[in-house]
Amino acid sequence: MEIVHTISAFKQLLKPLKKEKLKIALVPTMGALHKGHLSLIEIAKDSADIVVCSIFVNPTQFTDPKDLERYPRPLEHDIKMLTDAGCNMVFMPTVKEMYPTFPVPEDWHLDLGPAEFLLEGEFRKGHYQGVTQIVKKLFDVVEPDIAFFGQKDFQQVLMIRNMVKHFQMPLEIVSCPIIREDDGLAMSSRNIHLSPSDRENSLVLNKALQFVSDNFEKLDLEELLAKAKTMINNTPGVELDYFTIADSESLLPVDDKKAHNSVVLVAAKVGQTRLIDNMILN
Ligand code: PAF
Repeated sequence: MEIVHTISAFKQLLKPLKKEKLKIALVPTMGALHKGHLSLIEIAKDSADIVVCSIFVNPTQFTDPKDLERYPRPLEHDIKMLTDAGCNMVFMPTVKEMYPTFPVPEDWHLDLGPAEFLLEGEFRKGHYQGVTQIVKKLFDVVEPDIAFFGQKDFQQVLMIRNMVKHFQMPLEIVSCPIIREDDGLAMSSRNIHLSPSDRENSLVLNKALQFVSDNFEKLDLEELLAKAKTMINNTPGVELDYFTIADSESLLPVDDKKAHNSVVLVAAKVGQTRLIDNMILN
């Protein structure tokens, strides 16, 4: 597996691959890899000739400096996981490589549509500007034909699709299923921050989503939301940011269960750790 730190070195390696017209897949990550990331690598391997994984903890998407500071960076472990998974190339740039003027911000603002300001956008102002800024840069370096993202960051996938449409980039964006622990907790790099009691309490998020999914046909929207929110609010140490049943394109709350493309989304702080999760309903 090739490990590359600079854009110029990556471009050199890319040239012959492009010449041979090999299909290139990119799995962008911030490292601290888990089985969820490995599932993206597996899916990518099935649909491309070369799988590139990027590891870059992107400072411009963090709205809380403490969150950036304590973001896990187990690099050796990540490299071993990617080697074992059969990934072909890892792009692991420094902050200066991706943002030469850092910490002076680059001029970047993109109209990502009104959904940018809902849900995560409301709680993490500017987050999706930072995400789309780095993903655009990574796409420009790697020039992938296809890129894979986890459905756990549902709104992120939507924002990236909007960015790709805006720049008319010739690549396919694939959203891959959420990978869960045996007890239902969605895998996340942030889960390692959960204390044993947080870990136990965090299970209510999946339970509340599952409750909505199981009862979507039976109960009306108000009752579904009220019961699910009560489950979460009655769990110690869990502070709910939002729980909503939304249209999967606009992310606005649905007012009619017959409407198609609904998704139930949740975000909550469990102890000191903020978790998100979702389930597609129809
Ligand atoms: O989902 C993530 O890990 C990050 O937001 C991404 C897409 C790698 C951009 O930094």
